[in-house]
Amino acid sequence: MLCRMCRNDKKKVKAVIYIRHHRLALCAQHFVVWFERQVERTIRTFKMLKKNEELLVAVSGGKDSLSLWFVLHKLGYKATGLHINLGIEEVSESAQRACEGLAERIGAPLKVVNLRKEIGYSIKELSAKLRRRDICSVCGTIKRYLMNKVAVDKGINVVATGHNLDDETAQLLSNVTRWDIGYLGRQSPVLPEREGLARRIKPFCMLTEKETVSYAILNNIGYSETPCPYSFKATSPVFKRALAMLEHQMPGTKLRFYREFLRKGKPTFEEKTREQLRLNKCNVCGAPTTAELCSVCRMLKAVKEC
Ligand code: AMP
Ligand code: FES
Ligand code: ZN
Ligand code: ZN
Repeated sequence: MLCRMCRNDKKKVKAVIYIRHHRLALCAQHFVVWFERQVERTIRTFKMLKKNEELLVAVSGGKDSLSLWFVLHKLGYKATGLHINLGIEEVSESAQRACEGLAERIGAPLKVVNLRKEIGYSIKELSAKLRRRDICSVCGTIKRYLMNKVAVDKGINVVATGHNLDDETAQLLSNVTRWDIGYLGRQSPVLPEREGLARRIKPFCMLTEKETVSYAILNNIGYSETPCPYSFKATSPVFKRALAMLEHQMPGTKLRFYREFLRKGKPTFEEKTREQLRLNKCNVCGAPTTAELCSVCRMLKAVKEC
């Protein structure tokens, strides 16, 4: 198969990727150009960022978030990296090394928060103390809290994460199977700033995992491939497999499912969840919360009491 863009220029260059849902075959050079345009378009469409706005990119060390940091830096955004070391033996060490490697390559600042130093426990120790077997959900709460805290402490108003189309559609399908109105109303490529809460953006939400991994490989981004040992407990891979099957039979299903949700479904659910709860300041740490204590301070209080 030949690259379509090169063919337009009357050149015959072999394609390295075929994007089935766009019926687009591209060579390495044109794929990189196409990918970066998609990111710019997503940022523009959802009014995620202004050109001069400083942002924090949450980097796990994996392909998505490191590609995101790389591309935002290349597009001229002032992007500081944030890595949260969760204390998961070799996994966290190789993840941190990957983040440090990219920081050095692009010459951008990286802030590393070590969970053990920050709260005294690794993610596994904390979950064990709380007698919680859903490590991933404890981890999600802690990560969101720290991403926001670091942004607010640094006076940065925007946090970007590497969620891609596969992540977003798996989350959407999961929310739909439970008809979780609250989550459906809040699921969005951009969550606006509120008192004490930084804006959260997902510039890769229209790009598939295949596309982000290809971008990482073509740009020699050294990412960590060691999976989290607790991820087998997560439900998201099940929804991803179901969607992959649908996509295989009907190319374009994932993109259509997400786009049409944003266009037709989301406004309805948003309307139902418009009555947002007022945010107070956590009595202990000052983070925004709807209760007296934020979810992380509640966890730490429970640990002290056990
Ligand atoms: P996950 O929830 O693990 O699928 O990760 C979703 C996004 O959260 C990633 O693309 C990153 O932007 C961010 N993230 C996940 N883990 C970390 C981490 N340890 N440190 C910083 N950001 C993270
Ligand atoms: Fe948080 Fe695996 S990365 S539990
Ligand atoms: Zn080409
Ligand atoms: Zn708190």
